[in-house]
Amino acid sequence: MKVLVVGGGGREHALCVALAKSPKVDTIFCAPGNGGIAAIAECRPDLLVSDLEGLVAFAKDASVDLTVVGPEAPLVAGIVDRFQEEGLRIFGPPKAAARLEGSKDFAKQVMLKNNIPTAAHHTFSELAEAKEYVEQNDVYPVVVKADGLAAGKGVTVCETREATIAAVEESMGARRFGDAGAIVVIEEFLRGEEASVHAITDGETLLVLPSAQDHKRVGEGDTGPNTGGMGAYSPAPVVEGEMMDRIVRTVLVPTLHGMKRAGTPFRGVLYAGLMITRGGPRVLEYNVRFGDPETQVLFPRMKGDLFDILSAAADGDLSSIEGLDLDERPCVGVVVASEGYPGPYQGGKEIVGLEAANAMEDVVVYHAGTRLSGDRIVTAGGRVLCVSALGDDFQAARDRAYEGVDAIHFTGASVRRDIGWRVLART
Ligand code: AMP
Ligand code: GLY
Repeated sequence: MKVLVVGGGGREHALCVALAKSPKVDTIFCAPGNGGIAAIAECRPDLLVSDLEGLVAFAKDASVDLTVVGPEAPLVAGIVDRFQEEGLRIFGPPKAAARLEGSKDFAKQVMLKNNIPTAAHHTFSELAEAKEYVEQNDVYPVVVKADGLAAGKGVTVCETREATIAAVEESMGARRFGDAGAIVVIEEFLRGEEASVHAITDGETLLVLPSAQDHKRVGEGDTGPNTGGMGAYSPAPVVEGEMMDRIVRTVLVPTLHGMKRAGTPFRGVLYAGLMITRGGPRVLEYNVRFGDPETQVLFPRMKGDLFDILSAAADGDLSSIEGLDLDERPCVGVVVASEGYPGPYQGGKEIVGLEAANAMEDVVVYHAGTRLSGDRIVTAGGRVLCVSALGDDFQAARDRAYEGVDAIHFTGASVRRDIGWRVLART
């Protein structure tokens, strides 16, 4: 079988590695791919994830049997509908269902209609009305969210009325996020511990993946600006046992049913970003694709055939899959970033030690911002690598991940040394 993976980050490298293990997969294409993916897939650096027509044409020409989409933007833009119109098989939600991630207001409406626990909110499409609301609101902090996709930058936690007015003006007035910020959701600030729960679904059956936790802030102790994610681990102890059952029962199942009832059935990856509060789980946001870097700590734990699972989900036949064959050992993933990230950074730094790290037992190095330059691998992005490791317990997995990180060198490599601090603080 020929598979096309759309994207070029660490998540897509993890998808390619997992798909390459399937005996049914003989060719993987990746558009655009990266320096690490090039070792196991035929990369198409000329094909960007925004080029839906180019991707359709390529999949037809190359007789691709299944397309798997990494990032949200092409899903929200309707890549699944376009592929299906052409009779091409693709795993992911149709455009109408991808709105769960593409519009925060739509997601809130789905949650309200289906009694899914989330923060109280107000949606505004007029700047004057938003400001009027903020003027009379006395409870802080509040969270201001651009309605549309804003590359992870559309959420501002505001401690004061002045900061809230400024955030609303930047989004709705100055259009810092373009049209994505023309509508804003202002919501209650929730306290607790965050966790990510992913499920693969064909619209009827849910295959729930183990829990994971991301580290969004750039600095140790969860300080500094938000990033795409500086490290992750799975499982997240805050979601073990009864809590996971509760999330499935009160969030995932009602979301799936609600989407179906609304005439916009969901298929693909349903990823709930959650705050585990004292009062139970609350949805912070939905994503309609695999998390990055969560995928890099989930897939090393999955022993089953990912191609079989994603094909069955794409065909509406997920009930034929008996379940996930899981490695019970925990996995820890540490991101190695370029100096300056998430601000401006320089690319083109030679990376050494990749083979030594990858050869370590139970360690896998996923490439994100890398590219081939002759026979060398050089940096080409903010997040450069994610080093993931399994271990008999959390501490062992974490130690091994950092051993892998320490085997790799490039100028300006920056790493958070405290990935998993919440787990360590528990014990
Ligand atoms: P998002 O891009 O929607 O995942 O939001 C980015 C981050 O903002 C989340 O990972 C949370 O840390 C934080 N956040 C979003 N909504 C809330 C909320 N209602 N209360 C507290 N923190 C939030
Ligand atoms: N790790 C957060 C995300 O993928 O959105």
